[in-house]
Amino acid sequence: MESSHWTAAGASPESTDRERVGRDDYETVERRVLVVGAGAAGARTAIELVEQGVDPEDLLVVGKRGHGDAHTTWARGGINGALGTHDPEDDWTVHAADTLNEGHHVNDPGKVETVTKRMPALLRELDEWGMAFSRTEDGEIDQRYFGAQSFRRTAFAGDHTGESLLDTLVERAQDLAIPYREDLFVSDLVTDGDRVLGAAAVDIDSGEFVAVDAEVVVLAAGGYTSLYSRHSSRDDENTGDGPALAYRAGADLLDMEFVQFHPTGMVGARYGDEWDGRLVTEAVRGEGGRLYNAEGERFMERYSPDQMELDARDVVARAIAKEIAEGRGTDSGGVYLDISHRDRDFIEERLPRMYERFADLSVDMAEQPVEVAPTAHYGMGGVVVDDVGETAVDDLYAIGETMAGVHGANRLGGNSLAETIAFGEVTGQAVAERLAAGDDSRGGGDTGAAEDRAADLHARVGAHFADLAALSDSDGTHDPEALLDEVRESLWTHAGILREGEGLAAALDELDDIRERAADLAVGDRTDRSFEFALDLGFALTVAEAILRGALERAESRGAHVRTDYPETDPDWRRSVVIGRDSVGAMRVDTAPVGTPSEAVQEALDAGYELDYHQLE
Ligand code: FUM
Repeated sequence: MESSHWTAAGASPESTDRERVGRDDYETVERRVLVVGAGAAGARTAIELVEQGVDPEDLLVVGKRGHGDAHTTWARGGINGALGTHDPEDDWTVHAADTLNEGHHVNDPGKVETVTKRMPALLRELDEWGMAFSRTEDGEIDQRYFGAQSFRRTAFAGDHTGESLLDTLVERAQDLAIPYREDLFVSDLVTDGDRVLGAAAVDIDSGEFVAVDAEVVVLAAGGYTSLYSRHSSRDDENTGDGPALAYRAGADLLDMEFVQFHPTGMVGARYGDEWDGRLVTEAVRGEGGRLYNAEGERFMERYSPDQMELDARDVVARAIAKEIAEGRGTDSGGVYLDISHRDRDFIEERLPRMYERFADLSVDMAEQPVEVAPTAHYGMGGVVVDDVGETAVDDLYAIGETMAGVHGANRLGGNSLAETIAFGEVTGQAVAERLAAGDDSRGGGDTGAAEDRAADLHARVGAHFADLAALSDSDGTHDPEALLDEVRESLWTHAGILREGEGLAAALDELDDIRERAADLAVGDRTDRSFEFALDLGFALTVAEAILRGALERAESRGAHVRTDYPETDPDWRRSVVIGRDSVGAMRVDTAPVGTPSEAVQEALDAGYELDYHQLE
């Protein structure tokens, strides 16, 4: 059988010449709200919905993997909120000012306020729910230094904060009887052109097709940094599902060119390929870790004498990359990160997972440095949403790393977990209000409207499933995983820590070439890993194009986006890059202005707070 390339351009009832999978040949699930993604953002949204009175039976949270095994577990060092445990001068306005400064003022100030204002109370709520925060001797929630933050504001659970957070949320969700389905890969959203009707999915364990008929869909499906050949997450997460699904459904994307490279990823040449790029938490530097080049020089003194190793991630990542590029890196291609001047007990208590992981690799952090180099870690860009997380497609929401706006051109460490929790609450409340309002045109409580919506969903989803049926078991020429790797290599080479126009244009050509070959794939059955890779490849091609077009458009350097052909930050470029569709469905690139901070936050910005690194010495 000839292979068919799955484009997921969105199944449409107009394509009557196409074969369809009949309604009896797939499972249908009906829920009022579908949450796609079971990390912290999805879990916190579902919890809020139930706390606002939505019946858990009206919800479904789905994840590609096992329950409790989301990417959140890989966020390690902490979660920000201005509790002022050690530094009473801290408050939410300073947290907001730090976020805007390090975002280079292209963040959405309203969204920044939403997160920073809510976090102190939300941290206390997590504490009440049993999260295993590390504590001071007085029993307070402890807070550590994290990069580019004026005060110690990062609350933590050792160096397994994300894991502890997700455990807490999963337990709470289970107490509230929130239904969760594992191994469900959402391959497309179904819309009527204006409004979301539900989603098409594949059960990757059984290979069955599943249509979810839902009044509201919340995309909490993560980001897109696994589309770089060196990345901190696992290969099968952060492959761009969230932004690609939203874009294909008709939502716009924002600032996709802002990709964060975490300064300290493990170096594969030293620790083995399976560890290449995996995170060495910023908490190592937050607890005093120092960076040295192969010549034994503490090189951050040259790049950032005041903030040293705790300058913003973009600054430290570029410094490390430069040391390596100029020949002062280690033989394995990294630099040294050393915390051996701290006591063993201290390291074991504050950084237990790092200590254990390196001990397993025969490295004693209390005696020796570890080797690190920058790794793609977080996509600051994402889906355009309003103040409560709704996209331009009615009833479709996006939150967590899938949405854009909070972090601007460079994210503060510890703000990603904060965003998931804060927007989980805000979006959960907004969706609950919408359901309670019972808008009949959406079918809320009106049987006739609900039946019409369902009929529309089934008319569209059958064609999409036919595309997927043709994709599975196709015996074309190209291996989808190999093509995905080509996308990763191209982005790393041309849209990495440093970019320039010519390289970005060349990468767009490379993408066209990959797209052509993706029309002729060799794919196994629907439970085979190659089938997932083929779906990932579809998402990757959309998202990679958005990154490259955004990076080409932004003719300046700002935060994590550094154009060697435009090395300066241009004040006229204090704008966002918006990716939408033109009239023939191709990507359209525009720019949009960003908002201004409130008076309270402006005062904190004017006060000029800054991290005093030398308190750590
Ligand atoms: O380094 C880290 O622990 C990462 C934290 C974050 O990205 O927020």
